[in-house]
Amino acid sequence: MNVIIDTDPGIDDAVALSVILNNDCFNVQLITTVAGNVTVEKTTKNALKIADFFHATVPIAAGASRPLIKTFEDAARIHGESGMAGYEFAEPTRQPSVQTAVEAWHELLTQSSEKITLILTGSYTNFALWYREYPKDAAKIDKVIAMGGTLSSGNMTSAAEFNVFTDPDAAKILLASELPITMIGLDVTLKALVNQKWLDDISALNQSGSMIASLISHYNDRHVDGWPLHDVNTIGYLCHPDFYQAKRLWVDVITDGPAIGETVADIRAAYHQGQTNVTVVTDINQPAFAQWLKTEISLMLR
Ligand code: BDR
Ligand code: CA
Repeated sequence: MNVIIDTDPGIDDAVALSVILNNDCFNVQLITTVAGNVTVEKTTKNALKIADFFHATVPIAAGASRPLIKTFEDAARIHGESGMAGYEFAEPTRQPSVQTAVEAWHELLTQSSEKITLILTGSYTNFALWYREYPKDAAKIDKVIAMGGTLSSGNMTSAAEFNVFTDPDAAKILLASELPITMIGLDVTLKALVNQKWLDDISALNQSGSMIASLISHYNDRHVDGWPLHDVNTIGYLCHPDFYQAKRLWVDVITDGPAIGETVADIRAAYHQGQTNVTVVTDINQPAFAQWLKTEISLMLR
């Protein structure tokens, strides 16, 4: 599967990148970065560090340094000042592409003879900037798999999930794009937990496992039963849709006021008369997910 992954590493993003760069089902053609968990300078450096760790030469292009309208607020309290607390990576051996994320998407999509899947694990600002500038490129998108949103409560405010809260105006553009979108939100990702025993198990597997375990153990998003690995569910869903439940819904996003960043689903199909704009993933088989991820790590080349 040809993919572009747009990301803001971020500890759970780093896990997602580690898996996708090592799984032969994916042909990762481009990594782009966005401001989110930390600044775009840091998320770009972190993506370069992860690529270097796995000797991956995929192009990496830096994207938006701030949301479309809203003020930028990072999540360094969760992911550490660097965005990848817990592991001392070597300094990157290369620079990001000279192109911006949007120009890199445009060039790749116009030159590609095959359709490409977009995986979004940060806010959707790069998507929005690209879609406004180059809407005709959308014909080359196979599907969009985005981590974000919630049908229940949020992790930034009582109503809003972080990626949507970071740039609700971009989320609105994504949801209105009429592309085939799948959203995997907190309803699922807060159940995608790994615990200390799982970290001990992967640490013993190989260098990749010990790097990932060290990052997760510094991930300040610990819940009673473990750490939620939000972003890697995008990859989990693409590899194993059978681990997940999903339904078609109409979803919109609130872009101002006290509920800013809330994703509102027309659960009763009352407002949009049965029309839908997104596949919302609603549940996960957590044991199957955790076992799959452990196996993916065990197969990593380092
Ligand atoms: C999302 O917020 C970020 O902190 C994580 O990387 C994930 O993409 C979860 O709400
Ligand atoms: Ca992320």
